[in-house]
Amino acid sequence: MAKEKTVFFCKECGFEVSKWQGQCPGCHAWNTLVEAPSLGKGKKSRAMSPAALGQFRADKPARLNEIESQKECRLTTGMSELDRVLGGGIVPGSLILVGGDPGIGKSTLLLQVCRLLSDKSIKVLYVSGEESARQIKMRAERIGKFSDELYLYSETCMGTILQAVEQIQPGILIVDSIQTIFEEGVDAAPGSVSQVREVTGTLLQLAKSKNITVFIVGHVTKEGNVAGPRMLEHMVDTVLYFEGDKTAMYRILRGVKNRFGSTNEVGVFEMRNQGLMEVPDPSAFMLEGRLEHEAGSVVACTMEGSRAFLIEVQALVCQTNFPMPRRTAVGTDFNRVNLLMAVLEKRLGIRMGDCDAYVNVAGGMKVMEPALDLALVAALLSSHSGQSLPDGTLLFGEVGLVGEVRAVSQAEQRVAEAIKSGYDRCILPESNRQSILKAGNLDVSGMKLAGIKHIREITNLF
Ligand code: TYD
Ligand code: MG
Repeated sequence: MAKEKTVFFCKECGFEVSKWQGQCPGCHAWNTLVEAPSLGKGKKSRAMSPAALGQFRADKPARLNEIESQKECRLTTGMSELDRVLGGGIVPGSLILVGGDPGIGKSTLLLQVCRLLSDKSIKVLYVSGEESARQIKMRAERIGKFSDELYLYSETCMGTILQAVEQIQPGILIVDSIQTIFEEGVDAAPGSVSQVREVTGTLLQLAKSKNITVFIVGHVTKEGNVAGPRMLEHMVDTVLYFEGDKTAMYRILRGVKNRFGSTNEVGVFEMRNQGLMEVPDPSAFMLEGRLEHEAGSVVACTMEGSRAFLIEVQALVCQTNFPMPRRTAVGTDFNRVNLLMAVLEKRLGIRMGDCDAYVNVAGGMKVMEPALDLALVAALLSSHSGQSLPDGTLLFGEVGLVGEVRAVSQAEQRVAEAIKSGYDRCILPESNRQSILKAGNLDVSGMKLAGIKHIREITNLF
C-alpha cells in the first residue's frame, strides 16, 4: 500500500508546503507548521470548491452599473447591541464566526439569540460538540422560556449534522464549537488545521446553497487568534470577538470583519445570573461607584469603534520603600505610563523617580489608545499633589514627548458623550477645541471647553 501523502499547513495563515520547515514561508511565523494528510486528487477540498459560491455565479461578466441592486433583507434579533455589531441585523445565508476566550459567554450569547429568533417562529438548530443536551437545558433554564422552534443536538460528526439539517430544515444553525466537529473523510483530529478547514468549507457550502445562516463558535488562543488557521477568518462573512475581563461583569462584542457592514461597532453586555443583559448606556455603567473629589481619580473619554465611553482612570503615587520604585498599570499600557511619568519629570520638573506608581482603568476595560494620555497625566499629577479636579470634569488628548497636547480623532463624539452624561467641563487639545467650534455641529453651550496646548497648563485647572 502506498504511503499516505502528507503536507504541512501553517496554523496561523494556512500556507501549505510539502516539506516541514521551521519558519512559515507565508507569514514568517516560527514553529507554526503542522503535518496533515494531503487531500489527494479525488478528495478535492470542499473549502476551495467553487460550488460553495454556486448561487452567486453569473454566465458572463456584467457592468457594475447594470447589476440590479438588491435591498438586502436583514433579520433583526431584537438584541440591539448584537444587531448593531452585525450591521443592522443578520443577513440570511451568512456565515458568522463568534470567537472568544473559554468561559466568556459565547454559548450563552448564542443560546439567547436562539431564544429570540425561535420566538419569531424561525426554526433554529443548536449543535453542540462540547455539552450534552441536558447541560444546555440547564443553561437554558437560567435564561428563560424557550419556544418549540428550537432544536438541540449534541453531535460532533459533520455528516450526521448535515442529516439533521436535512431533516429539520432550520433557518439558523449554530455550531458550538468548530474545534470539536470533525469530517469523517479527513484523517486528522478535530480542531486540527485540516479538520477546521474542511468543516468550515462544508458549513460555507451549506449556508450559501440552502440560505441558512450559520453561527460558528471558535475558541481563541492565548495570542488572541481564533485557534485553527487564520483561513477560518478568511472563509467566513463576519467575525465577531467576544471579549472582556472574566472577573469584570461587562463583555464587549466587537466586529473584526464584516462583509455586510462596518467593523467599527461594538456591543456591550453584562453577565448576570439570567444570562447576558444589554448595556445601552456603558458610560453610566463604567462610572458606577466612582467617588467625586478624590485625588488620583479622573474621568476620561475613550472610543470603542464609533462609540464613546466615559471611564474612570485612577492613579496612586507614593514615596517608595523599595530600592527600585514599583510601577503597575492595569487596563492600559505599562510602558506608556512610564513614558508619561518621565515626561512629567522632565517637562514639569515633578520628581516621580523615587515614587511607586499604580495606575488602574476602573471597571476592567482595556484602553490602549493614546487619547488616554492626558487623563493618565492628570491622574498621576492629582495623586502626587493630593488635589482633585473639579466635579463634572473630564479629559482626553494625546501627550507627546515634549509635553505638547496633540489632537485626537473623533473629538466631537467624545464631547457629545460627555454632554449626554451630564459633564460640564472638558479639558481637551486646543486644536480639537477649535475644530469642534468651527464645525459648529455640536451645541456646546452647557459645556466649558478648556483647550490646552501643553501639559503645564493642566496644573492651573485643578
Ligand atoms: P459560556 O457561555 O459557557 O462561555 P463560553 O461558551 O464562551 O465558554 O458561559 C460562561 C460563564 O458564564 C460561566 O462561567 C457561567 C457564566 N454564566 C452566568 O454568570 N450567568 C448565566 O446566566 C449563564 C448562563 C452563565
Ligand atoms: Mg461554550
